[in-house]
Amino acid sequence: MLKLAVLISGGGSNLKALIEATSDPEFPAEIVCVGADTAAAGLAYAEAAGIPSFVVRPADHANRAEWGAALAAGIQNHGADLVVSAGLMRILPAGFVSEFSPRLINTHPALLPLFPGAHAVRDALAAGATETGVTVHIIDEGVDTGPVLRQAVVAVRAGEAEADLHERIKQEERPLLVRTVREIADGTLDLAAVAGAAAGAAAADLA
Ligand code: GAR
Repeated sequence: MLKLAVLISGGGSNLKALIEATSDPEFPAEIVCVGADTAAAGLAYAEAAGIPSFVVRPADHANRAEWGAALAAGIQNHGADLVVSAGLMRILPAGFVSEFSPRLINTHPALLPLFPGAHAVRDALAAGATETGVTVHIIDEGVDTGPVLRQAVVAVRAGEAEADLHERIKQEERPLLVRTVREIADGTLDLAAVAGAAAGAAAADLA
């Protein structure tokens, strides 16, 4: 049974989807803790499900590296073997990434490498994109640059508001994230192999 730590900043609808999926005893993963960088509304889902949670605020730490170390310690306390960033709106520091990578994934509301960063849905609309979507990827040291695991496409509707498009993306995102976690847990998706292939391709590009 794969042990998950889920990291959030906001409403936590992806966390809710993971809680619902993992409550099925047939699902090959369980959530052992939920971490947040703020008093996120989504922590209520963890509480309701009896899942331990903790908040590690950047403002309580001298720098990003120390914040990341405190967050990592909270996760290690619960013995997680996969960290899922599901709406954590912070860049994880390099020390955190090297501690967990490649067992560290993120879900992002765009078709990476297009529209990385904190305003992916707004940026896709501003660019006049006719389609966007969601990407689940391994986190590396860059901002939304890690190897892509799974993607789903969402067509943009003419004149659509950012919040409406984001909600339609999330309707694809929640099942995609659950499916990707299932595939990692049951061995269909080998994170070390994906990360190794990406590193090999990058080295070949430099050669
Ligand atoms: C999700 O759409 C996630 O992809 C996005 O925040 C939303 C969280 O929704 N993350 C990012 O934009 C990270 N760059 P939720 O709190 O309802 O799960």
